Amino acid sequence: MSLATALYAPLAVLGHDVKVPLASGEKVGYAALDYAASAPALQRVWDDIAAYAPYYGSVHRGAGYLSQLSTDLFEQSRRTVADFLDLREDDQVVFTRATTDSLNLLAGAVPAGTRVLAFETEHHASLLPWRHAGLTVEYLRAPRSRAEAVAALEAALAAGGADGPRLLCVTGASNVTGELWPIAELTEVAHRHGARVVLDAAQLAPHHRLSVRDLGVDWVAFSGHKLYAPFGAGVLAGRSDWLDEAEPYLAGGGASRTVAREADGSVAVEWHRGPARHEAGSPNVIGAYAIASACRALTEAGFDVLEAREQALIERLTTGLAEIPEVKVLNLFGEGSARVGVLSFVVRGWNSSHFSAALSAEYGIGVRDGLFCAHPLVRTLLGGEESAPSACGAPEPSLPGERSLNAIRVSFGAGTPEEHVDRFLAAVRALVTDGARWTYRNEGGRCVVDTRAHAA
Ligand SMILES: Cc1ncc(COP(=O)(O)O)c(C=O)c1O
Repeated sequence: MSLATALYAPLAVLGHDVKVPLASGEKVGYAALDYAASAPALQRVWDDIAAYAPYYGSVHRGAGYLSQLSTDLFEQSRRTVADFLDLREDDQVVFTRATTDSLNLLAGAVPAGTRVLAFETEHHASLLPWRHAGLTVEYLRAPRSRAEAVAALEAALAAGGADGPRLLCVTGASNVTGELWPIAELTEVAHRHGARVVLDAAQLAPHHRLSVRDLGVDWVAFSGHKLYAPFGAGVLAGRSDWLDEAEPYLAGGGASRTVAREADGSVAVEWHRGPARHEAGSPNVIGAYAIASACRALTEAGFDVLEAREQALIERLTTGLAEIPEVKVLNLFGEGSARVGVLSFVVRGWNSSHFSAALSAEYGIGVRDGLFCAHPLVRTLLGGEESAPSACGAPEPSLPGERSLNAIRVSFGAGTPEEHVDRFLAAVRALVTDGARWTYRNEGGRCVVDTRAHAA
């Protein structure tokens, strides 16, 4: 046991004692190693929500005590998130559904004619929202080092001329490799060329302290369900000007300040400025409060402690995998590059979907296989046909022994016990050495135990 994991216990999360059935019928404790998709709820978040639930009421639209209380809680949650992100004085926090929603909201608020730059390595949520009329999108090729990323941005901005608004959308930590991107450096380059930056912090916020003020980014987006607060809310936070000038993301009650019938029969609307402009409809107070609760819990636990513990787990994982020659860890920026607790790999001689299915059915370990909604990046990392189409997460094909066209991702965080990493490593070793004990088949795009084969 390392010093950091010995010193610091994992944070309490729901589901830590859940048992799941194996193909054999035996039940084992579930090892949740898919935090990058959705992290379990912190016990603290669950307790806060349970304590508030009886007091639940409408937000911004009720005179009763519970409506007032819920409105205060919702607005207090906004301030907690602002503190968590270390926002600037004039920045605003808009509650959304998740990161995808936040980036689509911003894409709708970007001034017409804006040139948007994004590395082709982005998650589809950061790669795709900008492809609508009125914007020009330029995809930068996958850089093979942090320095190359900074140089590529410098060159692209220098080449494109300084006319009109420009925006860089970039991830803080890759959802595929877990690698950290040089956000402060990229932001310095962008700002020097008069471009703005939106940070996709979906995978960064759960793992590292985030200071918008220090990084200098203009906006940041993240999801509650990856931050131990799975109650359907997310955040877009940052500069007000573009957001206040834009058409509301959704038109409706809450976003409108005044609505008046005109003499000619039309209806004139004055929209709010500030977060309300983009939060039409009844707000998700439970989701917002859950995010605020998670922000408080992580801050109180201390990111220095959480990071030290997570780094010890990463070290344990990477050292263990390095001892298995059949395993190839995928890195964009080279071996040993700094990462959060997210790591993808392939296993020689195995299809990734088959391997992941065996981890689940034979060992009770939950990982993810596929292209992780970052198809161009995974294609680059696997050296495959960049243009080969594939459905997100589909095994293709799922027969043992065939070359894998997708990868396996293991990811963890503040609630992960060391035992889960050890069990995972032992299971990988056993599968590589002894093979799978069961036969698997492709059922509707999923790799599952072939019960018919075993019944025969
Ligand atoms: C880096 C990154 N950005 C954006 C998203 C989209 O997040 P959501 O599905 O919560 O909208 C994800 C989800 O996996 C992600 O990993």
